[in-house]
Amino acid sequence: MNGQARGGYQSGVAVTVRNDTWWISPLLTFLGFSTFIIYSTWSALQGNHYYYGSYLSPFYSPLIFINPYAVGSAPVEHAWLGAYPSWWPTFIPQSPAFLILAFPGAFRFTCYYYRKAYYRSFALTPPGCAVNPLPRRDYRGETFLLLFQNLHRYALYFALLFIVILYYDAFRAFVRDGRWGVGVGSLVLLLNATFLACYTLGCHSWRHLVGGRLDCFSCDSLSKKRYRIWQRVTFLNERHQLFAWISLFWVGFSDLYVRLVSMGVWRDFSTWGN
Ligand code: FES
Repeated sequence: MNGQARGGYQSGVAVTVRNDTWWISPLLTFLGFSTFIIYSTWSALQGNHYYYGSYLSPFYSPLIFINPYAVGSAPVEHAWLGAYPSWWPTFIPQSPAFLILAFPGAFRFTCYYYRKAYYRSFALTPPGCAVNPLPRRDYRGETFLLLFQNLHRYALYFALLFIVILYYDAFRAFVRDGRWGVGVGSLVLLLNATFLACYTLGCHSWRHLVGGRLDCFSCDSLSKKRYRIWQRVTFLNERHQLFAWISLFWVGFSDLYVRLVSMGVWRDFSTWGN
């Protein structure tokens, strides 16, 4: 502690009496999130090279509408509603990713861990414990516009649905032209679904749903079962930050992998031999 500051606060953004490297964590968080946001937005705008063989980029799954003429696009029968209709507004890009990214985006954006991370690294409110925040008139917490963060518990239901869809995609990635096999992309997509499941099933809202409302864990067989589930979810919950980062990195890498293989930049080693 700096004796000069004892008993009072020094003014100025990010001023602190801490003498450790507290700024590394918010800086890395800022760089990591910025990289992901820039890449995912760019990729979602492309509308192409999101499919190869039987691999579908997770950024584009599920396919609602597709443009079958886009290079590296999925066969039209893979889309839930087929090709883009003729009435589709020209100012909205014909990219399947645009129709679905709001759901995982909302889930991540309102996640309790991510809130802490971007409140610190982007909004500097504050950038760290015992570090001065950006000046503000008063502290109101998550009120007013930030009430939308309450959407998290509802975004969870969509996130759970996406886990099922992504495991289905991973399963399909082991079948090509009616033949079972395995490629590096199959494993990439399987790991992607698994990392996302570990992140989603460690969610605080999910933990509350499975066991948070129980007053007694041993009163009857149902509450005992729920307690066991709660313990497993707690294992993931205690590693929520870890899986938040692993799954964020891997979902971006999965898209990049499918994109580069589709473009012919990377070769996908597989038992199908192509
Ligand atoms: S709290 Fe992070 S996903 Fe729900």
